[in-house]
Amino acid sequence: QAGWPGLIEAYSDRVAVPENARVVTLQEGNTPLVPAPHLSELTGCRVHLKVEGANPTGSFKDRGMTVAMTHAVAEGTRAVICASTGNTSASAAAYASRAGLTSAVLVPQGKIAMGKLAQAVVHGAKILQVQGNFDDCLELARKTSAEHPVALVNSVNPVRIEGQKTAAFEVCDVLGRAPDVHCLPVGNAGNITAYWKGYEEYAADGLVDSKPRMFGFQAAGAAPMVHGEPVSGPETVATAIRVGSPASWQAALAAREASDGLFAAVSDEQILDAYRLLARREGVFVEPASASSVAGLLAKSADGRLPENSEVVCTVTGHGLKDPDTALAGMVEVEPLSVDPHAVATALELT
Ligand code: F0G
Repeated sequence: QAGWPGLIEAYSDRVAVPENARVVTLQEGNTPLVPAPHLSELTGCRVHLKVEGANPTGSFKDRGMTVAMTHAVAEGTRAVICASTGNTSASAAAYASRAGLTSAVLVPQGKIAMGKLAQAVVHGAKILQVQGNFDDCLELARKTSAEHPVALVNSVNPVRIEGQKTAAFEVCDVLGRAPDVHCLPVGNAGNITAYWKGYEEYAADGLVDSKPRMFGFQAAGAAPMVHGEPVSGPETVATAIRVGSPASWQAALAAREASDGLFAAVSDEQILDAYRLLARREGVFVEPASASSVAGLLAKSADGRLPENSEVVCTVTGHGLKDPDTALAGMVEVEPLSVDPHAVATALELT
């Protein structure tokens, strides 16, 4: 086969699927690890961005979904269900279509970004908007799948983590080593759990000789892991990580402890500053939740928790086009200038 086959085949020795399973893939993974010169200069480190918006549905969720959907098909499942702040539902909808399954998604009413809703719509998911937050949606999805023949494809399904851990393999494969520090946004805490598992596996097999410190960042209004207790009314501009009671709490905590890492909160203002910096200085357009990894990097650099000269990877988890409303709302120059056809150069102050 020419080109990248998708991560199940690429890492077939490390990602288990049922024997003779039909692999459901959109050739996810193999995303760019882009050097970030401006951030490197600001922090005195070598900073790279793992650009997960380059996955087929525009977020890292595709890594878990290819594995979850492959298992679902092998088990003879006809329908899948998930709770989501938007990206899991977009990915589940796409992969279910690919697999020929029906999908149902439970999303918090009015709190998911427009691009993500559009994806669930075009892929033909049954979309149920719940009066409540992500945590309420997840409880409902768990209950429904426990009582009915429908497979839960949230990251509480352990095979999702198996897919998502491959991002750590890719980082090591490209750098030729593990980074010193890995920064991630944390919502339901599945992804930080998955990366740590990936790094541990590579280290255990001698493919790298060190593991990174895991730095997890939550939005200040949705920071249960920073406060050490669930948050009942999570609130943040970064709707993707608007989660009050992370399902993978214990595993994420273990990752922080084992890696000598940390959890910290970043304000919406810090998130939006990092969001604009990424777009304007690095040329990388991400959704707000993704920028929290970079907001956290800058905060930790400022408060001295980030040793200079470190090799740092920040995962930017989802594409900026997911959330056009935030993109336009945040800008001063929202209104494109209307211009006379003869006056372009004048309008651009070139004359
Ligand atoms: N970044 C983005 C863009 C996300 O969509 C999510 C989670 C995270 C970061 C956090 O990852 O939950 O593994 O800690 N989105 C989930 C969803 C909750 O429903 O799409 P996590």
